[in-house]
Amino acid sequence: MKSLLLLALCALLKYAGAGCYNGSDPILCSDPSCGGSCTFENGCYCAGDIKLCVPTATECPMEDNSCCDNLVSWSWDESLKCCSEADLCNPECFSDEVCEVVNNKITCSCNASTYKGLEISDLKPSMICDSDGITVSLSKCQLTQLGYNYSSFHIIDDSILCTYTYSDVINNFRVESIKLRTTMGWCGNIVSKVNSSKIFITNTLHIDPNMGQLITRNPFVYNFTCEYNLTMQTSLNFSPYPVLSSVILPSQGESGSYTIILAAYSEATFTVPIQVGEELKFGSNVYLGLFSPDMDGNLFALKVEKCFASPTSNPNDLYNVVFVSGGNSTNGNILTTVIENGNSTEARIQTNAFFIQGYTKVYIFCDARLCNKTSEVKVCELTQKADSSRLKIQLNLGKCLRCLQIKYMQCFQLKYFQCSQKRIYHASKYNTFIASK
Ligand SMILES: *[C@@H]1O[C@H](CO)[C@@H](O)[C@H](O)[C@H]1NC(C)=O
Ligand SMILES: *[C@@H]1O[C@H](CO)[C@@H](O)[C@H](O)[C@H]1NC(C)=O
Ligand SMILES: *[C@@H]1O[C@H](CO)[C@@H](O)[C@H](O)[C@H]1NC(C)=O
Ligand SMILES: *[C@@H]1O[C@H](CO)[C@@H](O)[C@H](O)[C@H]1NC(C)=O
Ligand SMILES: *[C@@H]1O[C@H](CO)[C@@H](O)[C@H](O)[C@H]1NC(C)=O
Ligand SMILES: *[C@@H]1O[C@H](CO)[C@@H](O)[C@H](O)[C@H]1NC(C)=O
Ligand SMILES: *[C@@H]1O[C@H](CO)[C@@H](O)[C@H](O)[C@H]1NC(C)=O
Ligand SMILES: *[C@@H]1O[C@H](CO)[C@@H](O)[C@H](O)[C@H]1NC(C)=O
Ligand SMILES: *[C@@H]1O[C@H](CO)[C@@H](O)[C@H](O)[C@H]1NC(C)=O
Repeated sequence: MKSLLLLALCALLKYAGAGCYNGSDPILCSDPSCGGSCTFENGCYCAGDIKLCVPTATECPMEDNSCCDNLVSWSWDESLKCCSEADLCNPECFSDEVCEVVNNKITCSCNASTYKGLEISDLKPSMICDSDGITVSLSKCQLTQLGYNYSSFHIIDDSILCTYTYSDVINNFRVESIKLRTTMGWCGNIVSKVNSSKIFITNTLHIDPNMGQLITRNPFVYNFTCEYNLTMQTSLNFSPYPVLSSVILPSQGESGSYTIILAAYSEATFTVPIQVGEELKFGSNVYLGLFSPDMDGNLFALKVEKCFASPTSNPNDLYNVVFVSGGNSTNGNILTTVIENGNSTEARIQTNAFFIQGYTKVYIFCDARLCNKTSEVKVCELTQKADSSRLKIQLNLGKCLRCLQIKYMQCFQLKYFQCSQKRIYHASKYNTFIASK
């Protein structure tokens, strides 16, 4: 008797399912008294009202079951373009899911048969190691099957700032993902440098078992590592407080703008960034690297037009010394080599820790611009000062005990230099520049 009734009910449901919702509460969005519409963010509402409505035809941009959220157990019928009573999952479920009604909502749930016999050792997170982030993902249904709570997905640091988890679809499976920044120390990131060309970044994924019933499982713990090439750019992420400056450069034409970064490095590989507060050794080389992380090297090149040093943060300081001009070394007071410029998305300049007497800091200013590779006949040779932008970094100088001594010594050695000016002296032996007030 009971089963007969059930059968009859099923038949009724099926029959009813063939038609569109045509009730009055909630009202149809198309009803003249409603004039409603739907949005991805808020769902379906009557015009200027907080009244929920049910869409038909083209009123619902989502075109899936979320259009019918204002009804209990109705689904979006793609052919009828309305909410119908057939139990259909729309969008369709993935291969490890089944469509069923849960809490009066038509939902894709995990198919318990798909992962029968799955072991914890079978859980293999998928990883994407990009320069702008590391994405770690795990199948939601696999986690559910093994009794894990995918909502508890977290890394070493489980504070709210570090929990960038979200739902995604990878290879036609629903996954829970977390995105990490590729920055040293960020949310427990551990950085290890293996050699001069490779760097590893490691963190740990933790997923708790479902609470409630008997806890029979330990948390799922998985160490993951991404390998990166050590470059001018990545080395900045992998050092704690690199000295750097960034500026947004407008590009010619309609294709937006680009970030340019200026950083200082202590080695010719341009992969050992100088740190904020680090005291530069007297006479040591300083490698200035400029790059654009998001620029297309086929379309643009980066050109440094001018670089100069100043004892103060004022770019118009009287004691400024220009060491790159027109994109080339000035071969002046500060021994400088322009290694690469105007030919790629990077510029490399080797200069020197020059000392300005009485100051413990030196500010370096560089004016850089983008060259459009297709429009400039000889790439970057034209000087277009108008659209260049200025970058500024500050370097700390160690105590210069020998500066005075060198100053006098150099007065005898360097004939071309005007000692009488009593302002600027050059010590070629130490590649050191001294100015005194
Ligand atoms: C919806 O219902 C109303 C009244 O109940 C009826 O007049 C109308 O024809 C129905 N519309 C459709 C499309 O079935
Ligand atoms: C659930 O998975 C099993 C095993 O893969 C399969 O045989 C069954 O058809 C699936 N159920 C649904 C409703 O897709
Ligand atoms: C650096 O280490 C990586 C990974 O261990 C290796 O593939 C590469 O050849 C090494 N490079 C150098 C220059 O030693
Ligand atoms: C799953 O994890 C979330 C976030 O940690 C928590 O709020 C929720 O209570 C957990 N659910 C179960 C069943 O353990
Ligand atoms: C995972 O990394 C942690 C350090 O973050 C380490 O203590 C632990 O032994 C590692 N576990 C495995 C299985 O490698
Ligand atoms: C890393 O460096 C190697 C060797 O120089 C190169 O073949 C590879 O494409 C680089 N990888 C990335 C992601 O830049
Ligand atoms: C580069 O210049 C060419 C010719 O002036 C122009 O057609 C093109 O849009 C420019 N490219 C970009 C990316 O601005
Ligand atoms: C800059 O150097 C390049 C290559 O050494 C040379 O061709 C060019 O003429 C120089 N430009 C200026 C303005 O000195
Ligand atoms: C520009 O780059 C290309 C390819 O990397 C190289 O062959 C060429 O010598 C470079 N030109 C200059 C002026 O640096």
